[in-house]
Amino acid sequence: MTLILKRSDVESVLTMKDCMAAVEQAFRELSEGTAILPLRTAISPPDGLSLYMPAYLKQMGALACKVVTVYKNNPSKYNMPTTIGKVLLQDPATGNVICIMDGGYLTAVRTGAASGVATQYLARRQEGQVAGIFGAGVQAKMQLWALSEARKLSKALVYDVSEEALKKFIAEMGPKLNLDIIPASSAVELMKADILVTATSSANPLFDGNAVREGTHINGIGSHSPNARELDTAIVKRSKFVGDSYEASFKEAGDFMIPLTTGEIQKEHFYAELGELITGKKAGRVNDREITLFKSNGLAIQDAATAKLVYEKALAAGIGQNLEI
Ligand SMILES: NC(=O)c1ccc[n+]([C@@H]2O[C@H](COP(=O)([O-])OP(=O)(O)OC[C@H]3O[C@@H](n4cnc5c(N)ncnc54)[C@H](O)[C@@H]3O)[C@@H](O)[C@H]2O)c1
Repeated sequence: MTLILKRSDVESVLTMKDCMAAVEQAFRELSEGTAILPLRTAISPPDGLSLYMPAYLKQMGALACKVVTVYKNNPSKYNMPTTIGKVLLQDPATGNVICIMDGGYLTAVRTGAASGVATQYLARRQEGQVAGIFGAGVQAKMQLWALSEARKLSKALVYDVSEEALKKFIAEMGPKLNLDIIPASSAVELMKADILVTATSSANPLFDGNAVREGTHINGIGSHSPNARELDTAIVKRSKFVGDSYEASFKEAGDFMIPLTTGEIQKEHFYAELGELITGKKAGRVNDREITLFKSNGLAIQDAATAKLVYEKALAAGIGQNLEI
């Protein structure tokens, strides 16, 4: 039997706190060498892009593959979303696909969870810090949720070029997180924040890296192609740079690759993978003055760990539809 889980099923069982614990364990496995993580495979049919993201986590017993498609004409032509994702979860003992679940909400939560874990290891410890969020879209919402799990925030400042997106963000996330969320009228206003997140669709730097205050922690989760970046050279140079994986960052992260190509930083500027902080191989933040930066490219281990968690919770709650395929 294969369990089918709709988006609403995934939403009903998946919390940020649990997802952060699962994602932390996944990064630990990556660092300890018990994860198998091929780079994502891309196929480009005429109208779009199809990505295949497989991963295996030995200790967690999670074997999965996410299929994500990006079809820009979907909304106008078919009244369907641009990005569609589904996760196939397998039984590592038999290889059988035991669950197929919607991947949209799962992706946003697992992306938030990686930033939440990075924030726990890299942000200053003080209570009452201010979050500054660039972007008010799908990912940005889950990013703020994750920050509020990682640190006790006093308020959040949010900036988006779309006023409509900003309004929706505040209406949804204010009550959900019971947090004061203030719309910012410019990127400069966000420089007052202690913890910054960049979660936009921009291919160009969002702010002047020289304006960032000492002690700030940044999670950069948007742009993930060699020629696109949300972060300028100045902030990358000023930061202790932590990535989700060396391999993905050197292949996909324009934020790192652009200054590397121009010779403004060297390879050694990549300080650590997130898993190396979790396993204690390398130290996270060492004082209150340094600027720390986590670059997230998005790894299939996050999907596999989260899908396993969702499956187990769905079984326990008796939700979903069982099908003989
Ligand atoms: N790292 C990961 O694991 C991961 C996972 C999923 C998505 N992403 C990436 O995250 C980014 C955001 O995805 P999303 O699903 O939230 O998209 P979205 O379209 O829902 O939201 C993006 C928002 O960015 C805003 N924006 C664009 N340019 C801006 C600028 N210069 N300043 C401020 N706001 C700006 C847009 O108006 C929009 O509201 C994309 O680049 C996506 O590819 C990363």
